Amino acid sequence: MNEYFHYQQEQLCIENVVLSDIAHRFGTPCYVYSRAALTNGYRQFSEAFKAREHLICYAVKANSNLAILNVFARLGAGFDIVSGGELQRVLAAGGAANKVVFSGVGKSEAEMRQALEAGILCFNVESAPELERLNAVAGSMGKVAPISLRVNPDVDAKTHPYISTGLKQSKFGVAYTEALVLYRRAAAMPHLRITGMDCHIGSQLTETSPFIAAAEKVLALAEQLAASGIKLEHLDLGGGLGIRYDDETPPSIAEYAQALLNALQGRAEKIIVEPGRVLVGNAGVLLTRIEYLKHGEEKNFAIVDAAMNDLMRPALYDAWHAILPLQKRDAARQQYEVVGPICETGDFIGHAREMAVDQGDTLAVMSAGAYGMSMSSNYNTRPRAAEVMVDGAQIHVVREREKVEQLYAAEKIIC
Ligand code: LLP
Repeated sequence: MNEYFHYQQEQLCIENVVLSDIAHRFGTPCYVYSRAALTNGYRQFSEAFKAREHLICYAVKANSNLAILNVFARLGAGFDIVSGGELQRVLAAGGAANKVVFSGVGKSEAEMRQALEAGILCFNVESAPELERLNAVAGSMGKVAPISLRVNPDVDAKTHPYISTGLKQSKFGVAYTEALVLYRRAAAMPHLRITGMDCHIGSQLTETSPFIAAAEKVLALAEQLAASGIKLEHLDLGGGLGIRYDDETPPSIAEYAQALLNALQGRAEKIIVEPGRVLVGNAGVLLTRIEYLKHGEEKNFAIVDAAMNDLMRPALYDAWHAILPLQKRDAARQQYEVVGPICETGDFIGHAREMAVDQGDTLAVMSAGAYGMSMSSNYNTRPRAAEVMVDGAQIHVVREREKVEQLYAAEKIIC
């Protein structure tokens, strides 16, 4: 637990608010975020990089709620987007287009047009055909697209294979060995302007060494480019800094930044970073109520009202999230499988958790601010959860709970 969550008289609180009050008022499942945690996380980043020109581009995919984007936009953040939809959200939330970098391996023509129209800072291009397409689209609009190449440094991020992106066999980026040739090709394209170089090697990294290894490879390439007359304005070192879910000991934001700054010493380029999880992960929890305690022959189940559609990480990555009672009970602990109501054996929130709980109790699934709501779905026709932001003692609903009618509003019955 971090400083934004604490027990007071056996009740779990977020900032100055008792979480049970939120559960009573708005129902469960419900995501709750601490504005102070978001703000302080961002400030730690800008403080840590202040020694040189930098831009912190929050990775929108981690949590794209407009209120969260707006908190970061007001603090001066840029944004890392991966779709036209995310661009639209950033603009709707008050983000500045000229601080947006656009990543992703499959940008469509329509998305390129939308981003060029908005005037984004940079396209992080991930392949040769994407260069060709962007040059053509920009040409057809009479524009010049600012680009960087996302290079794949072939560095092992030492994280879960599903969220590792910097190895040779991954679909991301252009091969390190081809990057120079592609930069030269891009330089010859009339509707592209080379502004930077980009890399992102994976997510939930808990050591600095892979970041440094990637930065060194980027720098070596930047030097080769300079030798062939291509000068860069910025170096984008991606996101990926991990957080503590259980007993991980990731570097602090300050340690991570210092390691990057050391690696980039003596370079003039502006630094861009694309943090997602570290800015929002431990700023949010998912509240869920125990519908039933079911005592089976081999296992006990706490069947809760949140499911894999609300928080997909356990089912998808076998991810571990702490699960805490909102109200502590003075009773014997028992071991439970914490599972949702969805009809899949993979629908679990936590395995073998020791808890002193009763039916009707509410639990907090911790560290759920990143890749929780943003990866949620309507599987089993389950409306998506409400989202609430706490600011000191104030409580704001930042997304209403979905209604079932909304889920099928666009569907048609045919005769
Ligand atoms: N930049 C790029 C190009 C990315 O692909 C990502 C994340 C980020 C930045 C932000 O990475 P972060 O700082 O959040 O680690 N759904 C998974 C995580 C997938 C990350 C995808 N890319 C999870 O729940 O663990």
